[in-house]
Amino acid sequence: MDILVQPLNRVIQAEPGANLLEALLAAQVPMSYSCMSGRCGTCRCRVVDGDVLAGGGIDQRPLDVQDSEVLACQTYVTEPCTIRIPEPDEVVVHPARIVKASVAAIEDLTHDIKRVLLKPAKPIEFSPGQYVQLQFGPDLSRPYSMAGLTTDGQFEFHVRLVPGGRVTGYIADQLKVGDAVKVSGPLGSAYLRRKHAGPILCVAGGTGLAPILSILRGIAAEGLASDIHLYFGVRSPRDIYGSDWLAALQTANPRLNVHVVVASGGDPGQHRCGLVTQAIEEDHPDLTGWRAYLCGSPPMVEAATQLARQRGIAPDHIYADAFYSQGN
Ligand code: FES
Repeated sequence: MDILVQPLNRVIQAEPGANLLEALLAAQVPMSYSCMSGRCGTCRCRVVDGDVLAGGGIDQRPLDVQDSEVLACQTYVTEPCTIRIPEPDEVVVHPARIVKASVAAIEDLTHDIKRVLLKPAKPIEFSPGQYVQLQFGPDLSRPYSMAGLTTDGQFEFHVRLVPGGRVTGYIADQLKVGDAVKVSGPLGSAYLRRKHAGPILCVAGGTGLAPILSILRGIAAEGLASDIHLYFGVRSPRDIYGSDWLAALQTANPRLNVHVVVASGGDPGQHRCGLVTQAIEEDHPDLTGWRAYLCGSPPMVEAATQLARQRGIAPDHIYADAFYSQGN
C-alpha cells in the first residue's frame, strides 16, 4: 500500500494495519520521535489525503493536536494516504527513558517559585524547550520543563507553588536535598529549531521562563545568529525572576532583546505594564518570517498564538507549550 510523504514527495510502502511511525522509520523518512506511546507529541504529522486509524495523546499535559494532525506512533494505516511530515531538516530523536535522580539543590527564586536541581544517575538527552515527567513518590507526579541544557549534567526546574497544591506543597514542605526522584522523558515538541536563522519571538508567562531559558541557552550554545525578542510576562513586580541570567545572556548576545511585562501593580517608570500580548502588538506590526516559542498558562499561550498568526507567523512555525495546572 502506498503512502505519499510530503514535502519529500516520496512514496513508501506499508502493509495494511501497519503502524505509521514504524513504516516511516523503516523507510528512513526523517521523523522526530521520543516516547512511542502518544505522550510527547514529537511524532505529530498531518494526514492530507486518505483515512487512517488514529489514536490520541495520553499525556498529563494535554497535547494540542490540531484537526487532521495525528501522532504517527499512535496511527495505523488502513488505505493509501498522503502524509505531511513537519520540518524534515529539524529531526529530533531522543528515545524516552526513565532515570533515577537525586535532589542536588532547592532554592527560592521568588516568594512562590522554587528552583530545583536534580542530578540524574544516567544522562537523559533532550532538546532545549522539552520537558520531563517528575515522580516524587506514589501519586506525586507532574511534568516540568528543563531550564538548562543536556550538557549541564543536571536538570534545572522552576516550580511555582500552587496554593493548596498537593505535589507543589510536597516540593515546598517535604522535598529535601538527597531525595530520590524518578525522571521520565524527554517529552514535548516546542523545542529549539536549530536551522532557522531568521528572527525569533519568545513569550514566557511565569515559570514558562524555564523552557524559554533553555531555548535561549541552546541558541547561545549553538552560536545561532538570530534577532530574538523575549517577552516575559509576570503578574506583579514580585514575580519577576531570572534577571541575572537574562542579563548574562544579553551580554553574550546583543541581538537578544528582553522585555519584562508586568500585568498589575507595576511602576510605569520602572516596568513595562500590561499584558505580553499588548506589548508584542505595540512593538511588532509584522512578524512574517519569524518563529515563535510560547510557554506559560493556556490563556496566555492561546492569546499569543492568535496574535502570532495574525501578525504573519506560519502556524507550523509557532511552537507552543501550555502549562495546565491539573488542579494540583
Ligand atoms: Fe509519538 Fe511520542 S513518539 S507521541
